Amino acid sequence: MSSVEQTFVMIKPDGVRKGLTGEIISRFERRGLVIEKLLKKTLKREEAEELYSVHRERNFFEELVNYVTSGPVVLMVVSGPSAVSVVRKMLGATDPKEALPGTIRGDFALDISENIIHGSDSLESAEREISIFF
Ligand code: RTP
Ligand code: MG
Repeated sequence: MSSVEQTFVMIKPDGVRKGLTGEIISRFERRGLVIEKLLKKTLKREEAEELYSVHRERNFFEELVNYVTSGPVVLMVVSGPSAVSVVRKMLGATDPKEALPGTIRGDFALDISENIIHGSDSLESAEREISIFF
């Protein structure tokens, strides 16, 4: 039995705008994951910069921060067995054009700069990201 983990998920502004909040939460719950915490808010610039601090030097950083602060997001702590990797697989590839059908990005997006959702990429990232918001 794999160990129970907590991961951090953010439905990005395009996901919220497209009315996908219920669909996404439902996918996690049907999979057997548990929504431990849930919060809808518009990120402050500093919060977005902190969340994506590993990308500070990348050429898309400014565009990324503008995008994730462009409207309300839904922030979640999601738990379950191997939740970090299970959620990442459910999201699909970062570039939705590469994401397989059946994944959230593969079903609902086509553009890397508007890819619907974020999920932590490791247990360490999950702890850091959860502590920013919860
Ligand atoms: P995320 O952090 O949002 O869950 O996405 P990820 O791990 O799959 O991908 P990551 O490399 O961490 O990239 C973070 C977010 O930056 C935007 N991005 N834009 N224009 C580009 O080339 C580009 N590359 C990345 C995406 O919104 C991506 O989710
Ligand atoms: Mg990432």
